[in-house]
Amino acid sequence: MKADRLLTIDDLRTLAKKRVPKLGFDYLDGGAGSEANIQRNQDGFAAVTLKPEYLRDMTVRDQSVTVFGHTYDAPIGVAPVGLTGVVWPGTDRMLATMAARRNVPYVLSAVSSTSIEDIAAIAPEHAWFQIYMKQEAEISFDMIRRAKDAGMKVLVVTVDIPVSAKRHRDIRNGFTLPFKMRPDILFDIACKPRWALATLRAGKPRFENFAPYTKDVADGVSLSAAQAVVISPALSEDLMKRIRDAWDGPMLIKGVLSTGSAEAAKRIGADGVIVSNHGGRQHDSFPSSIEALPAIAEAVGKDMTVMLDSGVRTGGDVVKAYCLGADYVFSGRSFVFGVGALQEQGGDHVLDLFSDEVDRTLAQVGCNRVTDLGLEYVWRKN
Ligand SMILES: Cc1cc2nc3c(=O)[nH]c(=O)nc-3n(C[C@H](O)[C@H](O)[C@H](O)COP(=O)(O)O)c2cc1C
Repeated sequence: MKADRLLTIDDLRTLAKKRVPKLGFDYLDGGAGSEANIQRNQDGFAAVTLKPEYLRDMTVRDQSVTVFGHTYDAPIGVAPVGLTGVVWPGTDRMLATMAARRNVPYVLSAVSSTSIEDIAAIAPEHAWFQIYMKQEAEISFDMIRRAKDAGMKVLVVTVDIPVSAKRHRDIRNGFTLPFKMRPDILFDIACKPRWALATLRAGKPRFENFAPYTKDVADGVSLSAAQAVVISPALSEDLMKRIRDAWDGPMLIKGVLSTGSAEAAKRIGADGVIVSNHGGRQHDSFPSSIEALPAIAEAVGKDMTVMLDSGVRTGGDVVKAYCLGADYVFSGRSFVFGVGALQEQGGDHVLDLFSDEVDRTLAQVGCNRVTDLGLEYVWRKN
């Protein structure tokens, strides 16, 4: 299919579903429990309406946003997505390359399929690093040191995995590591020859960042070993303060949905929060991030940088988030759907869709700059 016929993120999702084996597609697309939170994220954006204003000079429209001293060319960046190698081999590299070329932030997951050092070399000015933290945290602290040595700009600490999430699709698909090659999975892979060939060339996806520490985790020998490194039941403010001391650059807390957590992030000395429900992957009964955003922006927005992800699928969604108090916005699945559908061209295509829609929306609401968006451009909040 020609890329110019792929007009929405949902079009890319549909094509990705055709090209990626079910095991990988469901891992990317699925959520926790009933998956109601995936829909709630999108319903949350749909419930916000914008206020059109005309009779203004809209010839100049500016999408650039400055965060932590860097001016990015677009108002949306790539959220951390772990183990993208099962969706398409090389996804991390493709998206980091796109981010560096297009001047947007790319957040590398701790459980990525590509190493900290490789991504920092691809995107030296644009790579941020996301970490999970355990009580016995030597490995995480060493990864923080590696990210610092590699020159990564911003540390993102994800705090919303006190226990593993129950994702029914993954359980039903037998998505365990190492992959068990059931006949139905093998047949499905045989029907996706492009993916099969690319994976054969690239080799089995690994948790590359863990290679220096534990071979079992790096090689995905068991899912429980891999999960053990992301689950953080003991992530207290004290442990967070140790992380703060270990990182002298900007630090964000990701997975904040309440003003209480946002205030805790402030006490810890974080520079900002990412309002996120992990794309509906942790629980099915949480607020959407766009619902949670206004109160958090109100509570800590004057002192901290407030960012958002979860459910962003259009440029209109991006604009709504800025109107309701976001200082920057990310999407996870949109960019990876893009790669699943179009491989190397996927990230650019997704960013083009978002940028075009943001531009049109700015013109329609009568606001020249993304950074000038605010509540005065909103008709109805929910
Ligand atoms: C397949 C998948 C893997 C993810 N892995 C991580 C991860 O390793 N670390 C993290 O902080 N968030 C992870 N996330 C959450 C994203 O960073 C982001 O919060 C979420 O995708 C936003 O929702 P969206 O997909 O609707 O844009 C993952 C999301 C998906 C879909």
